[in-house]
Amino acid sequence: MTKKFYITTPIYYVNEPPHIGHAYTTIAADTIARYYRAKNYKVMFLMGTDEHGQKVAQSAQEKGVSSKEYVDQVSKLFKETWKNLGIEYDNFIRTTDPEHIETVQEILQKLYDKKLIYKGEYEGLYCVGCEQYKTKKDLIDGKCPDHNKKPEKVKEECYLFKLSKYQEKLLNLIRDGEFKIEPEARRNEIISFLKNEKLEDISISRKKEKVSWGIELPFDKSHTTYVWVDAFLNYLSGIDWPSAEFKQFWPPDVQLMAKDILRVHATIWPALLLALKISLPKKIFAHGFFTVDGQKMSKSLGNVIDPKDLVKDYGSDAVRYFLLREFPFGADGDFSQEKFLERYEADLANDLGNLVQRVLKMVQKNKVKVIKKSAKTLEGTEKDIENLDFKTALDKIWDIIITANQEIDKAKPWELAKKDVKKLEKFLNEWTEKILIIANALASLLPLTSQKIKKQVETLEIKPLFPKN
Ligand code: MSP
Repeated sequence: MTKKFYITTPIYYVNEPPHIGHAYTTIAADTIARYYRAKNYKVMFLMGTDEHGQKVAQSAQEKGVSSKEYVDQVSKLFKETWKNLGIEYDNFIRTTDPEHIETVQEILQKLYDKKLIYKGEYEGLYCVGCEQYKTKKDLIDGKCPDHNKKPEKVKEECYLFKLSKYQEKLLNLIRDGEFKIEPEARRNEIISFLKNEKLEDISISRKKEKVSWGIELPFDKSHTTYVWVDAFLNYLSGIDWPSAEFKQFWPPDVQLMAKDILRVHATIWPALLLALKISLPKKIFAHGFFTVDGQKMSKSLGNVIDPKDLVKDYGSDAVRYFLLREFPFGADGDFSQEKFLERYEADLANDLGNLVQRVLKMVQKNKVKVIKKSAKTLEGTEKDIENLDFKTALDKIWDIIITANQEIDKAKPWELAKKDVKKLEKFLNEWTEKILIIANALASLLPLTSQKIKKQVETLEIKPLFPKN
């Protein structure tokens, strides 16, 4: 039986165009999806755009277009960016898709019928940037630290979901490892949160006159669905719950996100699944957050990086390489143009690009018959990718690249060409095989480069892999 692998990224808000932060999670997910596809798993890599709610509606208003027009434009930008970065997703869900809306309504009706959703009132502080209610504890100087804004006071009639009912159960599932949260430090944070704070029932709707850009509640058309509940259900609607396709792929093998949205994914999301009697994801992984030049990316600082600009100048694999190599996947990091350029020139153009070029040029010049294909890969790197430790995989690959370059310098093949052709042939075969092994190990990490290397070995049409601009 073929094995399946279901992986998701968050669905990104369309209040702003895609930036390099969104690209980070997406590139990591794409790497894993490619890895399992190559292993003959039936892969479902789901991603998409989160299009309802106040934040998105406000952006549309600022642009002076209708919400629908606006989300259509920005969702398209996301798709273009993923194409540009060579992202091969299997399904792209938009929360404005009619099928998604239908699923959300069907599920909410179910929860309402089971009395897990009830009418009440909610009073709290709402941060539109987070699209979340905040407690006083979450704020610094009365402001949301992520958005540097005072949350709005909200007091209104709404429908609530019985989140409180699931506190104990969630804590046990996480502790027992049945619902895995990685990395370890993040898991501990969630455990201590669930141990020390009381999970309150949450408001899952807003009055339509306050928030009109949302999915109507099926049992009360004067309310729209809370955008996070709408968004979580994409993980179900995106694989056509409750069809045969859904059954084939459920549960997610891993759900990726950054630490900013881990808590909701570790509480509201699994509680909704428990309420629906659907099994939980096997694992959720929260990677770090990165800054740009040491500062949070923001429109006002003007430091938002569009991955398309980098792809245009350096190619998609250079972007993938930097993000996966520069800092470990679970840790915070920093992006800067200088560091990006340094890695491009030193690691990609010099170390890898030169290795391939010099070996193949010698093969060509000396008309040596070399091995053209290899199925071998670099030991350990597969496990690293399975463990989402992309940096270690790339560290290992670069160790081989650097050692191969040193071996060549030491062996002085240009001298061997004159005095020991047999030895030269032996060396060139070994080095070509190494290049093929490197290409295999890079297949899911830097897919275009991997293909280019294989093609150059086969055809000996040698071109720089990473031209210096
Ligand atoms: N729409 C919600 C998610 C709903 S999923 C059911 C949302 N959208 S978002 O557009 O704000 O995306 C947040 C996610 O984008 C982060 O969790 C992370 O995956 C990615 N990142 C955005 N900026 C990032 C960095 N600067 N660094 C790392 N990841 C970043 O939240």
